[in-house]
Amino acid sequence: MKGKYVLLTGGTGGLGMGVTPAVLARGGIVTMTYRNAQQVERMKSIVSPADFARIRWVQPNLLDESSVARVVNEMERVDVLIHLVGGFDMGKTHEYTYEAFKYQLEMNLHTSFLLAKHCLRRMLETGYGRMVMISSRVTDEAVGQMAAYGAAKAGLEGMTRAIAQETKGTNITANVVSPSIIDTPGTRQAMGPEKAVNWVKADSLAEVICFLASEAAGDMRGAVVPVYGNT
Ligand SMILES: NC(=O)c1ccc[n+]([C@@H]2O[C@H](COP(=O)([O-])OP(=O)(O)OC[C@H]3O[C@@H](n4cnc5c(N)ncnc54)[C@H](OP(=O)(O)O)[C@@H]3O)[C@@H](O)[C@H]2O)c1
Repeated sequence: MKGKYVLLTGGTGGLGMGVTPAVLARGGIVTMTYRNAQQVERMKSIVSPADFARIRWVQPNLLDESSVARVVNEMERVDVLIHLVGGFDMGKTHEYTYEAFKYQLEMNLHTSFLLAKHCLRRMLETGYGRMVMISSRVTDEAVGQMAAYGAAKAGLEGMTRAIAQETKGTNITANVVSPSIIDTPGTRQAMGPEKAVNWVKADSLAEVICFLASEAAGDMRGAVVPVYGNT
């Protein structure tokens, strides 16, 4: 990824804490989305000052097309999109609100479409690109009370596979990484730390994500790569 222009979303989240340092270590020139300044400060304590200085921070509304387009257009080039933004929620389907369902789709799927659309537009200008999206094991092994999350992530996989078909014959690829439970502060808080030993680590997922984002992965198209740790 050395010298590649990377758009990284959600890079300050639990998975991002593994992915961001890995991308910087490989020499990526990072444009990173964020929502609040506290997260930027937190990143300062994770990466070296020299690496931190190589991050360009942007604050788009990822659910607003013109805002996404502006961030993408401001980049020198878009060689890599690593889209980590997403979020989990669950609830019994017969009690689940339509508003919550729509929000799951917006956060996990609509942001992905807007970023994929505009990054692909820039990638087609140069003929080079790597897109990596994050799904979830729930699309492979259905889990009750996850209708909204499962629908959103299944949609994300379908969309990414379609993009992979569309970009055949170019050096642009689109792939998905599908984790089970990731060992993050969020999952430890929600589920308790006792079983964390079996959960997949953010650093380990970062290795897979960075491979798919690398030049070397040029023959991988439309893959959904399961990374389940010991679960
Ligand atoms: N954690 C797991 O066990 C697990 C398992 C399978 C798949 N995944 C997937 O892995 C990805 C990363 O998960 P994670 O555990 O790192 O989650 P996380 O800690 O909640 O981080 C999510 C990141 O996305 C950002 N974000 C959320 N909604 C946004 C929005 N509407 N606009 C802009 N930014 C937004 C968050 O920003 P703020 O910090 O400002 O909220 C945060 O940086 C997600 O796609 C998730 O679905 C997670």
